[in-house]
Amino acid sequence: MEFINHSIYKFLFQKMTNGIVCRLIFHKPLSLSLMNVKELWDGKFAQGLSSLETPDPFFIEMYEQYISKSYPSGGTALDLAAGLGRHSIFLAEHQWKPTAVDISAVAIEKLKETASGVNVHTLIMDIADYDLAPESFDLIILYYHFDRAFFPKIFNALKPGGLFITKQAFSNIPKENAPLQKEELLALVSSLEMISYEERPIKDRGVVEYLGRKI
Ligand SMILES: C[S@@+](CC[C@H](N)C(=O)[O-])C[C@H]1O[C@@H](n2cnc3c(N)ncnc32)[C@H](O)[C@@H]1O
Repeated sequence: MEFINHSIYKFLFQKMTNGIVCRLIFHKPLSLSLMNVKELWDGKFAQGLSSLETPDPFFIEMYEQYISKSYPSGGTALDLAAGLGRHSIFLAEHQWKPTAVDISAVAIEKLKETASGVNVHTLIMDIADYDLAPESFDLIILYYHFDRAFFPKIFNALKPGGLFITKQAFSNIPKENAPLQKEELLALVSSLEMISYEERPIKDRGVVEYLGRKI
């Protein structure tokens, strides 16, 4: 019994102190479920996520074939749920002005350490709270974070002719509240002009890659 009480008090104390820390770091207090998301990602990044340290091959391919050709002297970029900022840092090294937004303070701290020498504007916050000004970015990146409701905000924030690049895991099994379903992405980006699209199912899941332009 004593052990149970001790555990409960420890848990509540951690939640309270997390709440205080969140209020100090974040623009807005986070809900309990978002605090759990933040804790989860902070923990993962503290342990190390080496697979997210270097730019993704699809991003590099699209950068070389389309993005750099559309914007030879760089532009403004928004990297949503940027993690360690692998794409923001790459863009900053290629004359771009990137803004990286992520809920994990640990990820953003590591991003800043890696980005020494180049300029990446960073924000620690829930992207749902990020106020995207209309027609303010030449390029928006959304990699491995999915939120259906966020897509219209992204398109509104792109400048005319601006590019949207995304890579997502999807589920091949129809289920309620599934993150993203097979063949769903195309419907979500139907207002854009498609430049590149590939969906690769692997058993009951898969990966989808997309680059499109606002017309
Ligand atoms: C799989 S990682 C991908 C990171 C990065 N996009 C990349 O491809 O390297 C998912 C990221 O989403 C962030 N994230 C999760 N929920 C978020 C939210 N509501 N707002 C902002 N970032 C969030 C996590 O902190 C984590 O950095």
